[in-house]
Amino acid sequence: MKDVKNIDDFKSKIKRVVISKEEIDAAIKKAGKQISDSYDGKPILLVSVLKGSFVFMADLCREITVPCEIGFMCAESYYEGTVSSGNVKITMDLKQDISKYHVIIVEDIIDTGRTLNEIVALLKGRNPLSLKVVTLLDKPSRRMVEFKADITLFTIPDYFVIGYGLDCGEYYRNLPYIAEYNG
Ligand code: IMP
Ligand code: MG
Repeated sequence: MKDVKNIDDFKSKIKRVVISKEEIDAAIKKAGKQISDSYDGKPILLVSVLKGSFVFMADLCREITVPCEIGFMCAESYYEGTVSSGNVKITMDLKQDISKYHVIIVEDIIDTGRTLNEIVALLKGRNPLSLKVVTLLDKPSRRMVEFKADITLFTIPDYFVIGYGLDCGEYYRNLPYIAEYNG
């Protein structure tokens, strides 16, 4: 990000902590148990939508106590600062044949709904045994296309958030908590 020039600049953009690491951990434990209970004995493929969901995926999969496989795909929605341009591009596809799996898409945040709308349509076309979506965050007030996740850990109002995998201009993914961006 061009305007982050030094550590003071970097810190000044972190307005306030919105969801602490402890709150995230507790919610993930609960989601992990819910998934473990309902998918016991089924072939599961957790699909992480990169890059934003990599931290959530890493923590969620370790709270799942039944056998599961992991897959990655990369979707880029182009942002002008903190505003989505509306274009979604799949830049890396899954390697697995998903017709053999109960697929759970693991997403960082649902904003306009466009990214998941495209990914769900794409993956449904490949006939998975079932398809569900778990998202860490949801901003329902910003929807442009209708979309509802099967499991939502936190619903937040319309402000831009960073941390725990979420970026602004590729920075801040490494914050251990979710913060409001001081844009
Ligand atoms: P959608 O297609 O508008 O639903 O947006 C999905 C993608 O936009 C997410 O996977 C994020 O990568 C990004 N995004 C949306 N809102 C935020 C935010 O508040 N902070 C960081 N990234 C966001
Ligand atoms: Mg992003």
